[in-house]
Amino acid sequence: MENNATIQNLLQALEHKYSQTGQSLAANLEGLLHLDYLKYWDYIHVDTLLTLQKPKTHFPDEMVFIIYHQITELYFKLILWEIEQIASWQEISTPEYLEKIQRINRYIKALVNSFEIMSVGMQAEQFKKFRMALLPASGFQSAQFRLIEIASTDFVNLLSADFRAKITPSTTTAEMYEHIYWKKGATEAETGKKTITLQHFEEKYSTTFLEWAYKFRDKNLYQQFKKISPQDELYKPICEALREMDYWFNVEWALAHLKSAVRYLREKGKPIDATGGTNWTKYLPPNFQKIIFFPSLWSETEKTEWGRKKVEEMLG
Ligand code: HEM
Repeated sequence: MENNATIQNLLQALEHKYSQTGQSLAANLEGLLHLDYLKYWDYIHVDTLLTLQKPKTHFPDEMVFIIYHQITELYFKLILWEIEQIASWQEISTPEYLEKIQRINRYIKALVNSFEIMSVGMQAEQFKKFRMALLPASGFQSAQFRLIEIASTDFVNLLSADFRAKITPSTTTAEMYEHIYWKKGATEAETGKKTITLQHFEEKYSTTFLEWAYKFRDKNLYQQFKKISPQDELYKPICEALREMDYWFNVEWALAHLKSAVRYLREKGKPIDATGGTNWTKYLPPNFQKIIFFPSLWSETEKTEWGRKKVEEMLG
């Protein structure tokens, strides 16, 4: 029998809780009596989760491809979960800010360190065949990846480099959105024609992306960081953690990803038709796009380099 006093205290607390909303303690205790025990599989929704993998072809490795994308999307959700909490703060608590960026870094590193499941973990012959059946879908169309970008930094830092140089104080967010770097990557330079992959993506998500751009304009990770005093004792560790995030998301993840493209999307040293129709040898390398979330934390040389040496080694 549990300690009587403990039970009395709990009953009192429950009585207080239910009386606040005009409910009866007795009725709720009776409900508890009939309530079934919670089981792991119900709580985690394991059965539902395991129905979500539906290959389009008979190649076994397509299952690896689907599941790893789903794992990545769940990690993206974890990252957004932390970013949204930081954005909601009126006052910045530096220990919590640091803790959350460190969590984000843990998630990104887990993704980078497991990317070999993709880059070496499938049979190239199978990949090249089942990938054709999935056209024109592409990870390029991952909305959560774009939301992480929008919620991490000022919109201007996501623009293609040539347009970034042209903006003025009167350039609106909607105008900037037309020049976001990933749109350019999926548009024919001569004709201005957008790939079908981009057209589908815009139809589904442009409204959401613009809403997020407005919502996070003054409270994205970078803006929240700028509210921290350089005199704060955690200022330096926070700068380090943000640099780590920038580097692992925008350089290391991109490189791990590029390694997969090099393995599966090249034949006899030449790129073959990619997924979303981008010239991926120009699109995926981090030093071409130069997406940097926290530019004031990097030196000019570091920004110019931005993974260049590693890309050159990889592309040969
Ligand atoms: C064998 C594995 C993979 C290959 C060969 C590959 C290939 C590509 C290529 C060629 C692109 C450029 C856009 C295009 O032409 O479609 C791209 C973009 C992208 N992929 Fe993958 N991908 C792989 C795995 C993944 C995984 C597991 C994810 C996780 C969600 C992912 C997410 C993305 C994202 C977010 C982009 C856009 C990146 C940006 O705009 O900076 N990819 N991928």
